[in-house]
Amino acid sequence: MRALVYNGLGKFALQERPVPTLQGPGDAIVKMSKTTICGTDLHILKGDVPTCEPGRILGHEGVGVVHEIGSGVSTLKVGDHVLVSCISSCGQCEYCRRGMYSHCKTGGWILGNRIDGTQAEYVRTPHAQTSLYRVPAGVDEAALVMLSDILPTGFECGVLNGKVEPGSTVAIVGAGPIGLAALLTAQFYSPSQIIMIDMDPNRLACAKRFGATACLDPRAGDVADAVMKLTDGVGVDCAIEAVGVPATFELCEQLVAPGGVVANVGVHGVPASIFLDKLWDRNVTITTRLVDTVSTPMLLKTVCAGRIDPGRLITNRFAFEEAAKAYETFSHAADTHALKVIIEM
Ligand SMILES: NC(=O)c1ccc[n+]([C@@H]2O[C@H](COP(=O)([O-])OP(=O)(O)OC[C@H]3O[C@@H](n4cnc5c(N)ncnc54)[C@H](O)[C@@H]3O)[C@@H](O)[C@H]2O)c1
Ligand SMILES: [Zn+2]
Ligand SMILES: [Zn+2]
Repeated sequence: MRALVYNGLGKFALQERPVPTLQGPGDAIVKMSKTTICGTDLHILKGDVPTCEPGRILGHEGVGVVHEIGSGVSTLKVGDHVLVSCISSCGQCEYCRRGMYSHCKTGGWILGNRIDGTQAEYVRTPHAQTSLYRVPAGVDEAALVMLSDILPTGFECGVLNGKVEPGSTVAIVGAGPIGLAALLTAQFYSPSQIIMIDMDPNRLACAKRFGATACLDPRAGDVADAVMKLTDGVGVDCAIEAVGVPATFELCEQLVAPGGVVANVGVHGVPASIFLDKLWDRNVTITTRLVDTVSTPMLLKTVCAGRIDPGRLITNRFAFEEAAKAYETFSHAADTHALKVIIEM
């Protein structure tokens, strides 16, 4: 089979690999039909993810068809169309029982990291029964690919942790795929304002089309001032950090209203400051989370019912042979205006 293999710092190639085989009774082999590239794949290529060693097949998102199934999997059968979750969960360990699949003792984010991933014609998925989701025929499969990672991430780490409620005010810093996923799913709760903050005019224009009530570019003036003006001088009930640098986390601390929540989503590589001298008396909550994908079944229902269309995040489509071009396009998003790219096997 063909697979996209990480070959060390900055290097990857489409290579021939053997089709994976079942290694345990809980495994499935999925024949992939569509996958995508995540910002995290770019982090791997930059050498930021030491657990992902050279030789690893990349990718942790996608949809496909069950090709082979372990004897311990009773809820899926060969031929089922499935969504592959970016998080593998055993469903039984202490963390899984608490709904913290991301910290599963024998799973978590392993696909395309500690074990071979989904940017291949076939992938072995451990804990298949609790990590694959059967998808109904006839639903736009490309849109479903958005449910492997970015939609649950924006929703769980941003909207749920941020306690978005009817009428509440929300600011989302970062209008990348994750920030836009938070924007789409925040609207389940009818907040009164969703203010998007980014310096990429194309992404802000997208945010406007996706339902943002205001869009702010930090280069055009003081963002904190502008948010205060939009919120009667108090700030927002929920400030979602969807970038992953100290400046944007610290901005969220400035934007949050008394009693509000700073919900961090971004992956941070260096420390950021918590200004307790400003925050100690403001009754605020700061949350962090690695996506658990515990909301995937619920999100699937909303997509199948047409309540949200994550397919709107797809900007480019490539054949598997064009994977290098897909990476090139995705990694130069400011120039190419790419949000999510679909790679078809
Ligand atoms: N917590 C989790 O489980 C989880 C899961 C997946 C991704 N993530 C993280 O979420 C973050 C967002 O992911 P993404 O794929 O949307 O990333 P992205 O890089 O595509 O988007 C980030 C956006 O932030 C904007 N930006 C950069 N600096 C800014 C600044 N100073 N002020 C305002 N905007 C700024 C960029 O223009 C860009 O549009 C990343 O850090 C990613 O690693 C977290
Ligand atoms: Zn990802
Ligand atoms: Zn577990």
